[in-house]
Amino acid sequence: MNIKSFFVKTSKNVPNNDGQYHELVEYANSIILRMDMEGNITFLNRFAQEFFGYKEEELIGKNVIGTIVPPTDASGKDLKAMIADIMINSEKYINNENENILRNGKRVWIAWTNRPILDENGQLKEVLCIGNDITKLKEAEDQIMIAKEAAENASKAKSSFLANMSHELRTPLNAVIGFSEAMLEGIAGPMTDKQKEYASYILESGRHLLSLINDVLDLSKVEAGKMELELSDFNLQELVKKSFTFIAEKAMKHRIALCHDIKDDIGIINADERKIKQVIYNILSNAVKFTPDGGKIGANASKINDNEIQVCIWDTGIGIDKKDSAKVFAEFEQIDSEYSRKYAGTGLGMPLSKKFIELHGGKMWFESDGMGKGAHFYFTIPIKQTGKKGVFDE
Ligand SMILES: Nc1ncnc2c1ncn2[C@@H]1O[C@H](COP(=O)(O)OP(=O)(O)OP(=O)(O)O)[C@@H](O)[C@H]1O
Ligand SMILES: [Mg+2]
Repeated sequence: MNIKSFFVKTSKNVPNNDGQYHELVEYANSIILRMDMEGNITFLNRFAQEFFGYKEEELIGKNVIGTIVPPTDASGKDLKAMIADIMINSEKYINNENENILRNGKRVWIAWTNRPILDENGQLKEVLCIGNDITKLKEAEDQIMIAKEAAENASKAKSSFLANMSHELRTPLNAVIGFSEAMLEGIAGPMTDKQKEYASYILESGRHLLSLINDVLDLSKVEAGKMELELSDFNLQELVKKSFTFIAEKAMKHRIALCHDIKDDIGIINADERKIKQVIYNILSNAVKFTPDGGKIGANASKINDNEIQVCIWDTGIGIDKKDSAKVFAEFEQIDSEYSRKYAGTGLGMPLSKKFIELHGGKMWFESDGMGKGAHFYFTIPIKQTGKKGVFDE
């Protein structure tokens, strides 16, 4: 396409005579053609000739079907019928995307703008078609659809694998936990101290594995959009206070002071109590895990507006470096620093907690002034659930 000649010949930006309009059409970077009521081509610009690979005289008077439009597209759609319909219901086709064909047989996708041209009596005479090649866009769309389908299938396979495996994993674990508990209670007869010690290791490991399996399952359920909220009214202030008892023993052992300041006015909220309890427990168990002996852990909560409560659980522990921030809420990630290397865990507590909070329509984040400076974990939660139940929309 000789773009240069277009600029050379055209002295003004606005065309002021037929010649200049003609130039614009000829050198436009789009396909411009006209067809009559039978679908015969009456005009096509240079771009169209080059694009489809024909000389002007090879197409003028020829029908679009069999030349630049295949009778059916790759999906089997009848394009012959479509061309006939364009003449009858042209308003339906003002913007139309369809498959076309080049002289070398290559199929392409074109986005067409079709305008009816009327004669002096107002009767449809021809259709003016302006087209742009969108093949690459279509191919990219197809690739995305294929990738999406593959991802959805993989996700379904993962979900069903996990659902089956969870049953298979939990059944033997019930026996491990149940029988080690029974042994420790002396149901199978008295045990020596060594036997008791070993049985308690079995029990502890069994419980740990069970909570791990539950976390992995919960996470995949949320990701599959299948996690339902079991809503009830409960006292958030009580729940935070009660949650501190879970870490009280460990805190005492490590001389960690516990304090909470929960405003009375936050009272009753409507949410999934089990999940909120798990979130608070996950944050508190991290706080006690990452706070060295002699530190402090606290919580405060208050209403931030008519329908939202903000809870903050803070510690004076090892803190979080800015460069590691992204790892905190990433699945199976733990910060590997000189401080944190010695701590056990899987890296599921925080990502799962964040998802539980988001399921409620709340937000979760943390702040830390850096290594050795402690951390503040926050979440907000609506007092009442007004949105759809169990829908995870991010
Ligand atoms: N209070 C905190 N102080 C410092 N670092 C923290 C704190 N809470 C979380 N982190 C960092 O974020 C990481 C992710 O936390 P998360 O609770 O998801 O995993 P985890 O506690 O290591 O394992 P899990 O909770 O699955 O047993 C932790 O490994 C730790 O590096
Ligand atoms: Mg944790």
